[in-house]
Amino acid sequence: MGQMGLSSFSFSMVSYIILVLGLIIGPLLCNGGKTSTFVRKVEKTVDMPLDSDVFKAPPGYNAPQQVHITQGDQVGKAVIVSWVTVNEPGSSEVLYWSEISKHKKVAKGKVVTYTYFNYTSGDLGQTFDSNKTLTHYEMNPQKGQAVLFVGDLSYADNYPNHDNNRWDSWARFVERSVAYQPWIWTAGNHELDFAPEIGETKPFKPFSKRSETPWLIVLMHSPWYNSYNYHYMEGETMRVMYEPLFVKYKVDLVFAGHVHAYERSERVSNVAYNIINGECMPVKDQSAPVYITIGDGGNIEGLANNMSEPQPAYSAYREASFGHAILDIKNRTHAYYSWHRNDDGYAVEADSLWFFNRQWYPKDESH
Ligand SMILES: *[C@@H]1O[C@H](CO)[C@@H](O)[C@H](O)[C@H]1NC(C)=O
Ligand SMILES: *[C@@H]1O[C@H](CO)[C@@H](O)[C@H](O)[C@H]1NC(C)=O
Ligand SMILES: *[C@@H]1O[C@H](CO)[C@@H](O)[C@H](O)[C@H]1NC(C)=O
Ligand SMILES: *[C@@H]1O[C@H](CO)[C@@H](O)[C@H](O)[C@H]1NC(C)=O
Repeated sequence: MGQMGLSSFSFSMVSYIILVLGLIIGPLLCNGGKTSTFVRKVEKTVDMPLDSDVFKAPPGYNAPQQVHITQGDQVGKAVIVSWVTVNEPGSSEVLYWSEISKHKKVAKGKVVTYTYFNYTSGDLGQTFDSNKTLTHYEMNPQKGQAVLFVGDLSYADNYPNHDNNRWDSWARFVERSVAYQPWIWTAGNHELDFAPEIGETKPFKPFSKRSETPWLIVLMHSPWYNSYNYHYMEGETMRVMYEPLFVKYKVDLVFAGHVHAYERSERVSNVAYNIINGECMPVKDQSAPVYITIGDGGNIEGLANNMSEPQPAYSAYREASFGHAILDIKNRTHAYYSWHRNDDGYAVEADSLWFFNRQWYPKDESH
């Protein structure tokens, strides 16, 4: 059994974070950059055995392990502290104080028990090379104060049944750094834990609860449904991957930019299309989002005004004007939407309608 304590509290002092990110702006040449001549000796990267020093659990009954801090808000004034205790929940209190005052404050966290397959517990990996990388980072005289980690953490999924002991060992391995400075994470493909052989058939699962956040709105840059002759079908590979999820989980609205004009779609989906079945026309679908292209802010590149003709059926309204829109969410069922072109007075609505929430009030919106 594993328990995870999670505590978050506010700092009275701003903590400064230096990002270990280099920006290299080289000369712009069309014949590419440089290929380093360094060639690493070919050798296998092997995981450190489970009884390695870096995986050792702390001594003592129920001692907190896998201690981990990370940034707790967007302005650098809060910290989230988490740890694992293996015998019982134990205390969920964190003592903290500022550098200049020794007056200790207490934050109380919550306890979560986690389970995976038949295990209840608790791009670095945990090989000897991972240990070397972490050591080199730690020993670098230019002491980093925070780590941006772009995914692929433990590689537990390389083991039969995605052996989750490797998650715990990994967290004990990185504790020596993550307990002392914020690591800010992105999940990588090795965090998906897609494993049909042990009954885990879904690589992505919904994160939000529609009862708590009733409106599901997606923002992206490149539009999927766009009838302008600019960036046409550029979002296609992304659409093929994600549109079935959008329809299944009833995304209400999708806003995109990229095309410098305005367009609103019908509720349509094109999930039946599989390249060879010929069903390549988007069909009306009341479970599908409305797609709104609103890249009409008015930038230096000018308006997109060349449209494909005739206007496709999926396109409900399109106009090559600059403007803005207001989405007025009234409650969990109703939202009023209006788009305002810059050439009119502020309050003039050039395109407007009611949206009904797809989860809580899936009323047919087609007119
Ligand atoms: C989990 O299941 C696998 C495969 O059935 C088995 O080899 C392993 O011992 C089990 N682990 C636990 C902790 O029960
Ligand atoms: C990992 O690196 C640390 C620090 O360099 C070292 O003390 C430890 O022995 C290494 N462990 C393994 C298993 O390589
Ligand atoms: C509009 O786009 C189409 C398709 O790319 C192109 O054939 C046509 O010449 C363009 N029209 C103008 C006026 O640029
Ligand atoms: C939600 O808002 C709409 C529009 O203002 C209103 O007609 C409807 O009665 C509201 N629903 C609830 C449950 O308040």
